[in-house]
Amino acid sequence: MSKRPELQIDWAQAWIERDEERSRPAGKEKWNKRAKGYMLHSKCKSGYTARFLEYLNLGPEPKTILDIGSGPGVLSIPLAFEGHTVYALDIAPNMLKVLHEIIESYDEPEKSLLKERIHTIEGAWESDWEALGIPEVDICIASRSTMVHDLNEAINKLNHYAKEKVAITVVAQASPKKDSKLYAAVGRDNGFGFDHLYYFNLLNQKGFTPEVRMICSTKNEKYQTKAEAFEKAREMLGDMTKEEQRRLKEFFDKHLIRHEEDGESYWSKDYGHEVRWAFMSWEPKSQR
Ligand SMILES: C[S@@+](CC[C@H](N)C(=O)[O-])C[C@H]1O[C@@H](n2cnc3c(N)ncnc32)[C@H](O)[C@@H]1O
Repeated sequence: MSKRPELQIDWAQAWIERDEERSRPAGKEKWNKRAKGYMLHSKCKSGYTARFLEYLNLGPEPKTILDIGSGPGVLSIPLAFEGHTVYALDIAPNMLKVLHEIIESYDEPEKSLLKERIHTIEGAWESDWEALGIPEVDICIASRSTMVHDLNEAINKLNHYAKEKVAITVVAQASPKKDSKLYAAVGRDNGFGFDHLYYFNLLNQKGFTPEVRMICSTKNEKYQTKAEAFEKAREMLGDMTKEEQRRLKEFFDKHLIRHEEDGESYWSKDYGHEVRWAFMSWEPKSQR
């Protein structure tokens, strides 16, 4: 047997061990609560959405698409407008409720078109998809929604349900949940995982060669008060020592700016926190 270390690793098992180390992901209830906040995202096509669709590169022919962890339709809606039939699967009923509300907010004929082309299904990665009536489709996508403990099984499921293509995005060392500058400011290692490497390596180990492209953006939150900015930082960093709190205060004294715009006043950082997603796509029936 080869001694090369990368060939010794069982990437499916490595992912399970990695996943067990991290804090529990948000469950159905947390996602339900977040649904309203996602409302805005679905009606305006963000840079992220535009890149995802560009890299997905579907062409003019209508396809059937399973959008796993669809949320309120950030991708389901533009894909339906492009002529595709979409099965939007999500664990959180409130996300799907918001998706229906967004569809209802369109005028005719768009409203009827979206109603006809988007089918919502409440369910999870782990559900019995056959029992949920999910059909085999041309394309499976999972955008910012691969919250799975058993990655190997999830990939098998994607490959089983997609006839032509699978496309996912996975955090690539710059997460929306972690601002690397804040970690550095308090003197901590930023703790970013290399999630995308597990996906890439496991796919290769299973005989697929995913195409990988990066989708980069920045995020800059608004805070009503300085105290809110500290609270959000505390949520991100967890418990802090006295010294870390002192460093955080010093950092915020330099980098929090007050804005007054059109009668609105708020605080924000003087930089955008970097977010990077690895877009990976592969042909499910093209195992080497
Ligand atoms: C970050 S949002 C992404 C939404 C959308 N795909 C996008 O790119 O904007 C993650 C979505 O995955 C859903 N989700 C979380 N865990 C899930 C699971 N185990 N099965 C199915 N959906 C899940 C959440 O309810 C949420 O709508």
